[in-house]
Amino acid sequence: MTERFVVTIDQGTTSTRCIVFDSRGRLVSLAQHEHKQYFPRPGWVEHDAAEIWRNVERLAPEALRRAGITASQVAALGIANQRETTVLWERDTGLPVGHAIVWQDTRTDGLVRSLSLTEGADQVEHDSALPMATYFSGPRVRWLLDHHPELSERAEHGEILFGTMETWLIWKLTGGLHVTDVTNASRTMLLDIHTLDWSPAALAFFGIPRAMLPEVRPSVGVFGTAVAAFPGVRIGAALGDQQAALFGQTCFAPGEAKCTYGTGSFLLLNTGAELVRSTHGLLTTVAYQMQGQPAAYALEGSIAITGSLVQWFRDQLELIASAPEIETLARTVADNGGCYIVPAFSGLYAPYWRSEARGVIVGLTSYITKGHLARAVLEATAWQTREVVDAMNADSGLDLTTLRVDGGMTADNLLMQFIADVLDVPVVRPLAIETVSLGAAYAAGLAVGYWPDLEGLRQNWHRAAQWLPTMDPAIRTAEYGNWRRAVERTFDWTR
Ligand code: G3P
Repeated sequence: MTERFVVTIDQGTTSTRCIVFDSRGRLVSLAQHEHKQYFPRPGWVEHDAAEIWRNVERLAPEALRRAGITASQVAALGIANQRETTVLWERDTGLPVGHAIVWQDTRTDGLVRSLSLTEGADQVEHDSALPMATYFSGPRVRWLLDHHPELSERAEHGEILFGTMETWLIWKLTGGLHVTDVTNASRTMLLDIHTLDWSPAALAFFGIPRAMLPEVRPSVGVFGTAVAAFPGVRIGAALGDQQAALFGQTCFAPGEAKCTYGTGSFLLLNTGAELVRSTHGLLTTVAYQMQGQPAAYALEGSIAITGSLVQWFRDQLELIASAPEIETLARTVADNGGCYIVPAFSGLYAPYWRSEARGVIVGLTSYITKGHLARAVLEATAWQTREVVDAMNADSGLDLTTLRVDGGMTADNLLMQFIADVLDVPVVRPLAIETVSLGAAYAAGLAVGYWPDLEGLRQNWHRAAQWLPTMDPAIRTAEYGNWRRAVERTFDWTR
């Protein structure tokens, strides 16, 4: 019998990748294209959804060709995507209305501040289990309708459609199916996280017509069949990329957690069927839902800027030529020289949720070299992780004993060691580092019976690397104190 495979699209913040996996969860081929980042004003970040779709159309044949297979050998397609990024398009033409507004964009700052003082905000925060913040899609849709009044009436009639990236891609792949999955929907502020359908209170509060919203579906289950890019292939799953990474790390049981280090970093703890509300600044989110089953929930510590601080160091300051060079540069010095960088470029997310915060570099003296700055860049990722782990421990009443990590930044040994040091727990990386795509593959494969059950998938998880804490506790305490004081400096930097 001809061998069959699962293929994935990971539509991320900086690039889109297509990966072909075999039945043992091994990567067979990978194709990837970056897309343009638009920064039209301070705090604004945009993508061109049409460019992203063109990339998918190019990537699909590339990935299949590199694997030496045809679409007829693909059992299912799984989609994982950057969450909260907001696209509007015309139902008739399938053309985007302007650029997509990216999750890091803070243009809704003023709107969010006034909405949070408006009656009904508490109900929306309760239904969605999210704090009023610029991070989520709902306020962006309101902003777009306010700034393009001609769209409002068309949106009422379902002529203008809203979607996050998976919705946009499924629409293009299927030639017009308008659907989302529960994990992505849970990041809009429009979903009632209890009923797993759009919250009437939230739609009324934001003034968003239901006719422009996609249908909410389970994450694991056949959405439809592709007619473009992978014609004839069933779309078996869609999940937000961080939820996909949780799935790819096989964190299926309550109490299991992972942290993915990409553009931002996201620590998710599976809480099972229990919807746990944080009292320490974490988000409650849907982890995944299998067709016909109740949803699994997660607590999430979202950090907006980690890998993108390294990109900023490379592209805007031009102090390194490629991202991996940050480790080499940081190793030219023994410590940070007293310098700390808090990258509040999109305000601060967990555990602070301060949209008005702006980044700072503190502790500059003439002693500081670019090596110290490189170290401060890497350390910022570790300290931000420490803050969300502290919040997670406080919420769950349990202390994290190891941290499972994945994502591009885990190739940086200096950073991984520093994370183990500041958390004072072992940091563990699996053999399969493409966990976002692997999770989307697992989910899609389960939906079509390519893999029988969750338990079998656990057998594919193998440890590849481990970092053990070695830092002197007194130094850890003192450095953490310095970091916290640097964070406080970001709060009063208001316009
Ligand atoms: O919530 C934003 C997150 O989904 C983005 O992930 O990996 O594309 O930066 P990434």
